[in-house]
Amino acid sequence: MSASKSIIPPSSTALERASDLLHNGELVAFPTETVYGLGADAMHDKAVAKIFEAKGRPSFNPLIIHVPDMETAKQYVIFDERAEILGRVFWPGALTMVLPRRKDCPISKLASAGLETLAIRVPANPLARQLLQVCRLPLAAPSANPSGQISPTQAAHVATGLGDRVSMILDGGTCTIGVESTVVGFDEENVILLRPGGITKEQLEVHFPNVQEANEESEISSPGMLLSHYAPSCPVRLNATDKHKNEAFLGFGREYDKISTINLSVSGDLSEATANLFSAFHLLDEQGAKQIAVAPIPNIGLGVAINDRLKRAAAPRP
Ligand code: TXA
Ligand code: MG
Repeated sequence: MSASKSIIPPSSTALERASDLLHNGELVAFPTETVYGLGADAMHDKAVAKIFEAKGRPSFNPLIIHVPDMETAKQYVIFDERAEILGRVFWPGALTMVLPRRKDCPISKLASAGLETLAIRVPANPLARQLLQVCRLPLAAPSANPSGQISPTQAAHVATGLGDRVSMILDGGTCTIGVESTVVGFDEENVILLRPGGITKEQLEVHFPNVQEANEESEISSPGMLLSHYAPSCPVRLNATDKHKNEAFLGFGREYDKISTINLSVSGDLSEATANLFSAFHLLDEQGAKQIAVAPIPNIGLGVAINDRLKRAAAPRP
């Protein structure tokens, strides 16, 4: 893959330029600890519209707003006691909370797809934090990939997927977590898990023992949880214990090492596997794999987020 001229290494000049672009309503991709985000000024309707256009994202699918700290978040959304606790424990970090918009909330209605709620998080990646501090804007940022495709965990993935639809890509190296943030909402009684991600249900349950999983009947839901998503170009076969002819094999653990084209973690470490998941898909895609078989992944801890992404990668395409 050739280096894109829009991939810029971090420096104070680069941050100033990124800030100028954002203030002018342009799109800037930046690293977070989860995946790269496609950022725009969240208060600027036209800039937010550019995100949907660049990704080919359906406009009913709302975006996550990134802010530097909880104080800033409180300017836009209403916290209850539970949100206060989760924010104090998990921010900065891979947790997104869906909370009611304040009446005077200046965030574009388009960013939250017309909903009365807003998804918001404080990212932990140092470069993301610097960008938020320099530009002093709330940044709407979905994952920086064309809608439905594999999320980017390296700057080059963004360049390959979005090309010149993004004005600048800040290069922060490889994302340390490798899957998107966990999205939670709240009903009268409980914390509702809307999307499994970098913070595990087990971690949330230390603070709220009754975390409920969202289903079709849930009062609140995540409109962006499309069945086919995170998909490489070729078909994906799950829970594979052998490798068929013409398949690339994505292994997990020592057991499958011999037949693995790529092993997500030889030692069977789920956080290592999470960090490697999307880049493995990107690589096999580039190598022109005809089909990707994936070894079984234990459905505990971060394995729940991995299996969620795998299920969508293997789902019938629209
Ligand atoms: O890790 C992440 O969360 C990354 C990085 C860049 O921060 N961002 C990300 O954004 O994954 P995106 O747009 O790919 O996913 C946003 C998810 C979608 O499932 C969407 O439906 C949900 O958040 N969401 C956003 N606003 C919501 C709202 N008001 N109510 C319910 N769900 C919401
Ligand atoms: Mg996404």
